[in-house]
Amino acid sequence: MPQTKGILLSGGSGTRLHPMTLAASKQLLPVYDKPMIFYPLSTLILAGIRDIMIITTPHDLPQFQRLLGDGKTFGVQFTYRAQPSPDGIAQAFLIAEDWLAGSPCALALGDNLIFADRLEFMLFNATRRQLGATVFAYQVRDPERYGVVTFDETGRALDIIEKPKNPESNWAVTGLYFYDHRVCEMAHKVKPSARGELEITDLNHLYLEEGTLQVDHLDRGCAWLDAGTPDSLMQAGTFVQAIQSRQGLLVGSPTEAAFRMGFISVDQLRERGESMHKTALGQMLIKVADGSKHPSKHKK
Ligand code: DAU
Repeated sequence: MPQTKGILLSGGSGTRLHPMTLAASKQLLPVYDKPMIFYPLSTLILAGIRDIMIITTPHDLPQFQRLLGDGKTFGVQFTYRAQPSPDGIAQAFLIAEDWLAGSPCALALGDNLIFADRLEFMLFNATRRQLGATVFAYQVRDPERYGVVTFDETGRALDIIEKPKNPESNWAVTGLYFYDHRVCEMAHKVKPSARGELEITDLNHLYLEEGTLQVDHLDRGCAWLDAGTPDSLMQAGTFVQAIQSRQGLLVGSPTEAAFRMGFISVDQLRERGESMHKTALGQMLIKVADGSKHPSKHKK
């Protein structure tokens, strides 16, 4: 079975964040002390994914390359590709088809942050599933802004609808998706929606129809934030600040995630921390390196 690859989708026009996104890509805006894209990148790394394609606009691509490089710092490999226009999230699979070459794939939206205690465990289960797709549902106050999933009394997913006017549940589908090796074949079946986009919800619907869509619940102990509006961007930053300064735990650090996954050594972790020693983030990385009791476990 080929290894799961990852796509970080970071295009779009960010119109809901104008004028902030007139000159900078949304996913490069800061969420407290890190660029937004670091958060979903950490999630992919925690899922054990080392081969990652970053898809963004032709205009923004050089900035992402400048920020992230070839991936060596995180013990991963980045490939970059442009999406000429924002024709839908599911288009990512058509853009990445040759690169995926039949591998299973995780897709993370560049503006979604997930913070959960058992995240690695949930991600591990999702990557282990060989047939079908896995998505995560989270209870929200305003489901009409999202893809919404409804369940029967046994908890089985019944339907999934993109931005319904009258949502039948308040379970939103988050921007983290896992698909089997057939994802490109399935994506080719998706037709543009009324708003002219290849909708990720339509792709998920295809898996639902064949009975292979697994919907995992993110429970109350988890936080899922999308940072696509000024309010949600602010909330996400405040949330990260609260956890980091109160608990001393890092949120959304791809360097720490890479260390935890054994992608980089304790020396590389320390080096990265020292290169940013003037920042609280750098100090926290050094602290993680100092506190690692079993460095042998984390050898590259
Ligand atoms: O955040 C989760 C939600 O994301 C899901 O519940 C919805 O089902 C899904 O459609 C999506 O809804 P949004 O309204 O948030 O999608 P949006 O168009 O804002 O795109 C999400 C991210 O993907 C955003 O960071 C921009 C990027 N994007 C989007 C499109 C349509 C691209 O890079 N290319 C695209 O073509």
